[in-house]
Amino acid sequence: MPTPFETPPNEQPSTYVVQDRSNQQELERLQIQDQLVTTAMGGVLPEQADPEKFRRILDIGCGPGGWLIETARTYPGISTLVGVDASQSIITAARTKAQAQGLAARVEFHVQDALRMLEFPTSYFDLVNLRFGQSWIRTWDWPRMLSEMQRVCRPGGIVRIVEGELAAENNSPALTRFCQHMVEAFFQAGHLFSQESASVANHLPDLLSRYGCLHVQSHKYSPEFRAGTSAAEAYREDIRFLVYTLRPFLQKRGCLPADYETLSQQVLADLKEPTFQIHGHLFIVWGQAPERG
Ligand SMILES: C[S@@+](CC[C@H](N)C(=O)[O-])C[C@H]1O[C@@H](n2cnc3c(N)ncnc32)[C@H](O)[C@@H]1O
Repeated sequence: MPTPFETPPNEQPSTYVVQDRSNQQELERLQIQDQLVTTAMGGVLPEQADPEKFRRILDIGCGPGGWLIETARTYPGISTLVGVDASQSIITAARTKAQAQGLAARVEFHVQDALRMLEFPTSYFDLVNLRFGQSWIRTWDWPRMLSEMQRVCRPGGIVRIVEGELAAENNSPALTRFCQHMVEAFFQAGHLFSQESASVANHLPDLLSRYGCLHVQSHKYSPEFRAGTSAAEAYREDIRFLVYTLRPFLQKRGCLPADYETLSQQVLADLKEPTFQIHGHLFIVWGQAPERG
């Protein structure tokens, strides 16, 4: 039985910022983050004019399946929704949730390392989605990832990517410092194109166009969370888990400050202040898969 940080045979070492694929705290955090983000963006596919026209959807690095399950619930006309993730325990949680909601006939989840290949036929999906991939995709992985996304998408289908910034404008100096360490570690690990919080989001429109997508469009959402709201409470919960789950990554990248425990406590205290507020940005970039030559 491998220890949590050992890579089982035939499995590539994880590039995800939380290396331990069975980390339960990360599983819980992802469920909180999913609902927070989907609500902040006004739904699962807010920018698509007619989501009912999609028949088959793929979600890459789907986490515990919240986005895909909500998509199935919102659009009953979508017949097949498939999620892939590298973590067996995350996929098990996603399957359990789909079953509990009576959606298992339409929603399926598979363990796959999407950095190797997407194990689906060419032109199979109408929409291929990827949310928060910068947490495991390095800058040099994007060309192959975009080419695989387009391969499994039918010509004219949608390749869709959602990213956030890593450090949002807020009124807690401790949170700002924590986020700066995070940006530095992401950059050191090759996940950012430059040491800037929205570096991946800013590159996405150009990346999609450069690697073959047609009619690339983008949209920015700018949610604000204020103390006393359920969104601010959910955000605090997210950060409460994140300061633990991200610690080994910050340490590995040499970005763990000596006062990390004190800093984390200060962040959580600030997020409880009645004056706390944060104003972030979320970016959707999408384009059409081209005809194959
Ligand atoms: C930040 S989470 C985002 C989850 C989900 N997309 C969401 O937005 O709620 C990133 C997910 O990517 C998964 N992941 C990491 N490396 C992966 C890989 N090589 N192939 C597939 N999934 C991967 C992680 O296990 C994790 O569930």
